[in-house]
Amino acid sequence: MAFEKEIEKLNKKREELESSELIEKQHQKGKLTARERINLLLDPETFVELDPFIESRFQQLGMAEKRIPGDAVISGFGKISGRQVYLFSQDFSKMGGSLGEMHGQKITKMIELATKTGCPCIGIIDSGGARIQEGISSLDGYASIFRAMIRASGVIPQISVIVGPSAGGASYAPGLSDFVFMVEGISQMYITGPEVIRAVSGEKVSFEDLGGAAVHSQKSGCSHFIFKSEKDCFLGVKKLLSYLPQNNLADLPRQKGLLAEFFEGETMRLLEIVPEDEKKGYDMKEVIEEIFDKNSFFEIQSGFAANCLIGLARLSGYSVGLVANQTRFMAGTLDIDSSDKVARFVRFCDCFNIPLINLVDTSGYLPGKDQEHRGIIRHGAKVLYAYSEATVPKISLILRKAFGGAYIALCSRQLGLDKVIAWPSTQIAVMGPEQAVKIIYKKEIAESREPKEMEKEKIEELKSAFLSPYQAARLGQVDLIIHPKDTRNTLIKCLESLLNKRESKIARKHGNIPL
Ligand code: HXC
Repeated sequence: MAFEKEIEKLNKKREELESSELIEKQHQKGKLTARERINLLLDPETFVELDPFIESRFQQLGMAEKRIPGDAVISGFGKISGRQVYLFSQDFSKMGGSLGEMHGQKITKMIELATKTGCPCIGIIDSGGARIQEGISSLDGYASIFRAMIRASGVIPQISVIVGPSAGGASYAPGLSDFVFMVEGISQMYITGPEVIRAVSGEKVSFEDLGGAAVHSQKSGCSHFIFKSEKDCFLGVKKLLSYLPQNNLADLPRQKGLLAEFFEGETMRLLEIVPEDEKKGYDMKEVIEEIFDKNSFFEIQSGFAANCLIGLARLSGYSVGLVANQTRFMAGTLDIDSSDKVARFVRFCDCFNIPLINLVDTSGYLPGKDQEHRGIIRHGAKVLYAYSEATVPKISLILRKAFGGAYIALCSRQLGLDKVIAWPSTQIAVMGPEQAVKIIYKKEIAESREPKEMEKEKIEELKSAFLSPYQAARLGQVDLIIHPKDTRNTLIKCLESLLNKRESKIARKHGNIPL
């Protein structure tokens, strides 16, 4: 047989790429190996590995003995549910998955190929960060990855899956990704580890308290999805991809199904879910379940800034981005964290032409000294900027109230909303009547013989003048006032009417979003 010896040599080299001792080492830590992770994520038999024999060029500090083929990362391409993706998976069992020159080169190559070919790029991260022995070449490895990611931003979806440490430089690849997945108990992300922190400031902290999955999904907002096991986590990645187009020029996905499923008719139950008394909270997730395709809501950042819900859903099969006030928490107000959360999500949807639907029920930005001092103006401005800049279809449904800044940010046609729909009981105003009378009738109330009575009277007067959608409808700022039972069907019709929306932008280098 021709090439027999060479083929034998190749097979031997391939076998050497993963030794059983290293597999065991990883399993003992309760983690899967880099290769097992790829197999879990991709469709069977679709993975094609690139650069398996790349090696570090470094000899010093023991590197001559340590370097291994592949340089502690597996990279290549394959398919997820039939769709092409590029990916890399860091191998912690080899030099702690640390990133040296060639390791960095492999990852950069992957991101560039994904960008050129318009395919999502997925990074599976399990790494001690910059490889100390390779010095500045490791840092340059990161620099080239970051540059490639930034160039790919808004062109292809970029996903980071953290399944081990993501230390130092390794944390900024997730930081630059569109979505970050973490697994309870095994994922830890930080720029400086506990040892360094203790040496610098004397502060003692565990890996988990510093950068565990709970910290990043609830406090820092750096993670978007958290799962109990690696298996569930990879299923989550597949689910997310099912909502996303391949790239910024690809068509919006529409899930195939029976047309009858897409039009389930009236949404009467909304009248039971949403209380008439606007001071009473309710679970916006129940509203979402009633309006959008059954079980299609995939919430993003569920543990962070719970006063505002964001996520992907389907409406008549079409992928849509959903932003909704959750009145159960902080009356659904927009605070600093929720402003950041909403603004970034709106920009993501805009990059990938995913239509936006807002479900609005809030009295506005959160008042308070703490919020003002921490920069609610700067953070809140991001929401205004993101919506105004977005050229995707933008639809707002106002359920009960939209006061002040929340009206401007989430449902103002003047800010660029395409369709504003209101239920008949909707209140739209600069602020609530109780607060408003204290400002505009301050003198009259103070001078009145019966101030309490007068205040009540004036509140009623304001309510009848402003607290309905009709003033906004007369001014053409609310397009439709509908019976709540018609919510789903109206949203479907409005969405379909906007699917071919095109809007050009002013030529400029780029705007300057408040960061
Ligand atoms: C070279 C590294 C390494 C690194 C780990 N290893 N991190 N080698 N460079 N950055 C090696 C270890 O020497 C060890 O090699 C093997 O990987 C496994 O590491 P262990 O420490 O035995 O594993 P474990 O106890 O599980 O601890 C994992 C860890 C720890 C928490 C990640 O290794 C660690 O703290 N590493 C350094 C993390 C860090 O500070 N990184 C930042 C680098 S600076 P042997 O041969 O013994 O098996 C950076 C640039 C910053 O990234 C950029 C700013 C944003």
